[in-house]
Amino acid sequence: MRTILVIEDEQPLREAICDILEFEGYIVFQAENGKDGVEQTLQHLPDIILCDVMMPVMNGKEVLAALRLKETTRLIPFIFITALSGRSDIRSAMELGADDYINKPVTRDELLGAITARLKKSDVILKKTRHTAELESINKDLNAFAQAVSHDLKTPLRAVDGYTKMLHDDYAGILDKDGLRYLETIRSNSAKMRELIDGLLEFSRQRKTEIAHSRVNMNNLARSVIADIRYEKNYKIPEIILGDIPDAGCDEKMMRQVFVNLLSNAIKYSGKKDKPVIEIGHSVINNESVYYVKDNGVGFDMKYYSKLFGVFHRLHSQNEFKGIGIGLSIVKEIIEKHGGRVWAEGIVDEGTTFYFSLPELAGNPS
Ligand SMILES: Nc1ncnc2c1ncn2[C@@H]1O[C@H](COP(=O)(O)OP(=O)(O)O)[C@@H](O)[C@H]1O
Ligand SMILES: [Mg+2]
Repeated sequence: MRTILVIEDEQPLREAICDILEFEGYIVFQAENGKDGVEQTLQHLPDIILCDVMMPVMNGKEVLAALRLKETTRLIPFIFITALSGRSDIRSAMELGADDYINKPVTRDELLGAITARLKKSDVILKKTRHTAELESINKDLNAFAQAVSHDLKTPLRAVDGYTKMLHDDYAGILDKDGLRYLETIRSNSAKMRELIDGLLEFSRQRKTEIAHSRVNMNNLARSVIADIRYEKNYKIPEIILGDIPDAGCDEKMMRQVFVNLLSNAIKYSGKKDKPVIEIGHSVINNESVYYVKDNGVGFDMKYYSKLFGVFHRLHSQNEFKGIGIGLSIVKEIIEKHGGRVWAEGIVDEGTTFYFSLPELAGNPS
């Protein structure tokens, strides 16, 4: 059952309104001045408030201002009942954050129309707010869980590492060939596990970090990432072509990570080609400012596209290319945090292009 609070100092009008509302099945509370209205709001937390503007003790605008300040009452839909004469009053009241107003003399249709419209709207808002709050809380929990688990896993892992090292250093001489191989397998697996845990920690740290916006020279950033790359000896060194790419409004540290991940992938996944070529460029696609990193490497099968950006998901085996599958999930997290999108196109054996869009930087020529 919906509850309505009617705050109105003119008794006949107040009672007439309450009669109409009660007849429609609402539970109605009445207050004869603003102060009483605020108290009753706090007590009953009604679904909607109808409030006169001109009243003794505390006027309607003061009531609205007081309720908008309180966490428990600030979202309650608030409708002013006004005398038509006070146009500027209405405007300033609406500016205070009232949801609607109805004119005196109040007609039944206008009254019920305003109330149902407002209740419908607030239902939708309430659902959305609840949904968002739930999602935020789940996200936080998951993040905290990932952090806690990763930290907890590191302790036993350090013990495994330490003891296998001691075993290797002190007993290698008395182990036979199979024994040594088993030991090596334990060591490489625990190294792999440490990488996975660090990846998970890095990912959840990334999710928690707030963006620090600035104007970033993307050319210089890409150039500096290219200069910092340490090439693995198993992979061919590619030719890297850097086009003239425009500045962006973004978090420089995060954008560095995006380039590091996309470029190291491009290098790795094209590193078995005879002549690997990587191109970093920019274009405007459907009014969106889009940066891309393109390679002519092994590509991937678009059939598995939905897995591409998932945490720990990999489309190539560990034997083909080493990795843990966290880089692209970090890239996605960062770009989406900036309000952009990231996507990719791959053709098996021909290459892959990763695209990411960023909101247009004010004043950028495009
Ligand atoms: N440039 C690329 N070319 C082909 N496949 C790629 C490319 N970049 C990423 N991938 C695919 O996406 C998967 C996830 O990438 P990423 O999260 O960076 O993890 P990792 O590189 O550690 O495997 C990779 O395992 C690979 O299968
Ligand atoms: Mg990677």
